[in-house]
Amino acid sequence: MNTVVTPSTYIRNLSHGMHRQLADFLDPQDGWKKIAVDIMKPSGEPRYTQFHIRRFEGTVRMGKSPTCELLYDWGTTNCTVHDLSNLLLKNDFIAAALYLLPDFKHSDLDEDAGKRTNQQQISTIPISGAVPCSKTEVDVMQSCNAPVAQIKEPEENKHDDDCTVLNIFPLTELLQGTNYFNTQLVSDGGNKLGEGGFGIVFKGKLRGKTVAVKKLTEFVDTSIQDLKCQFEQEIKIMANCQHENLVKLLGYSSDGDQYCLVYTYMGNGSLLDRLACLNGTPPLSWHMRCNLAHGTASGIEYLHVNSHIHRDIKSANILLDNAFVPKISDFGLSRATVQFNKTVMTERIVGTTAYMAPEALRGEITIKSDIFSFGVVLLELISGLAPVDENRYPQLLLDIKEEIEEEEKTLGDYIDKKMEDVELITLQKMYTISSQCLNQMKNKRPEIKKVLDSLGHIKTLSSSF
Ligand SMILES: Nc1ncnc2c1ncn2[C@@H]1O[C@H](COP(=O)(O)OP(=O)(O)OP(=O)(O)O)[C@@H](O)[C@H]1O
Ligand SMILES: [Mg+2]
Repeated sequence: MNTVVTPSTYIRNLSHGMHRQLADFLDPQDGWKKIAVDIMKPSGEPRYTQFHIRRFEGTVRMGKSPTCELLYDWGTTNCTVHDLSNLLLKNDFIAAALYLLPDFKHSDLDEDAGKRTNQQQISTIPISGAVPCSKTEVDVMQSCNAPVAQIKEPEENKHDDDCTVLNIFPLTELLQGTNYFNTQLVSDGGNKLGEGGFGIVFKGKLRGKTVAVKKLTEFVDTSIQDLKCQFEQEIKIMANCQHENLVKLLGYSSDGDQYCLVYTYMGNGSLLDRLACLNGTPPLSWHMRCNLAHGTASGIEYLHVNSHIHRDIKSANILLDNAFVPKISDFGLSRATVQFNKTVMTERIVGTTAYMAPEALRGEITIKSDIFSFGVVLLELISGLAPVDENRYPQLLLDIKEEIEEEEKTLGDYIDKKMEDVELITLQKMYTISSQCLNQMKNKRPEIKKVLDSLGHIKTLSSSF
């Protein structure tokens, strides 16, 4: 954030990036509604009626953020950061108020607005630097509903200084290493490995090492300096997350307006492709699938313990190295790219609906949604079926749970026939875990620790058969 934000700054003059960051505080659990109903016209009447609120609510279905829409609309008046901060404090959005005005003093704000704030809470929220460039752990913790005092550094960071060392690659080096971002598929002799919601992934060679370079979709936003600062901050947070079951981020490039991320190359591609036996690869055995489930849960546990929510757990984001060790990719990317233009966000949301928990579809961000998505991945391991298929009934794989519960089908109908070593006892146990993860009510889903322990048990059992 380069512009100095003061209480008298107009809301409409805040950068798009700041609107998005505020959305991360206010979109979950419809926090924005509390603010919206407190906004008054100069006449003293509420500015927004239920009709307006429903209209903002409807924007979620279009992949938009209701907070951003609200700020945009309210910003057409002369409302200021002072006005917004008062409303944030009144409604106990203390971290959001501190994000907006990190150095605020109570005298800056209306007396009654500050009444309900918890002074002790304010003093324990760690804000790194006077003006945060990007979301720090504060908002992640808020979305985890965890107490701020428990914020932790990633465990390995305490012992391993090397983990924070990130290579910054000049764009020219990435161009040379990827044959100038050759968009022909690797299978056709080019460099393109695939494409997702954030951009294209290329296979490359850098400094003697085979790597995967993700060239992020270009930003269309104006304040490129803000974006660059936020992007780099997020990348550093990502670099601190190191675990056997996470893809290693080797470095990045942010030359000019082009952003690229450089990862270790994963020789066996994605779990999605291997379950589909793409390019004629052999089916994964049940024993391997048990290992993959356990390894992936271990990666998720690491992220959750370190207060990170993945937000995009799916088999396409579980990559397999040469020894078929599962590595979760794109952790934190949705946070790093949260300032992307709205079109990209819309496509992303549509693209991952098959894994999304009900509350995630409403825009809420919680670790419990990762658990739900992992439940879908477990169904994929059991059935070998794609998460979504328009030519199938049910189209969404997660709906087979209902079919089985309503006894229209049995679990046996859905077992992947391509496995030769299937064991019904462990398979049934894995299905039970999946079914618990897929509970519509987020609080009834198990914690990742419990899921990990159960999958550890299954893994041991499956090796003893
Ligand atoms: N580190 C890597 N090593 C090898 N292949 C990779 C690597 N990262 C990505 N890929 C390949 O590139 C493809 C595209 O990845 P990308 O992350 O862009 O898309 P996605 O996972 O399908 O969707 P999303 O954008 O939501 O993550 C993946 O299917 C995977 O096969
Ligand atoms: Mg991905």
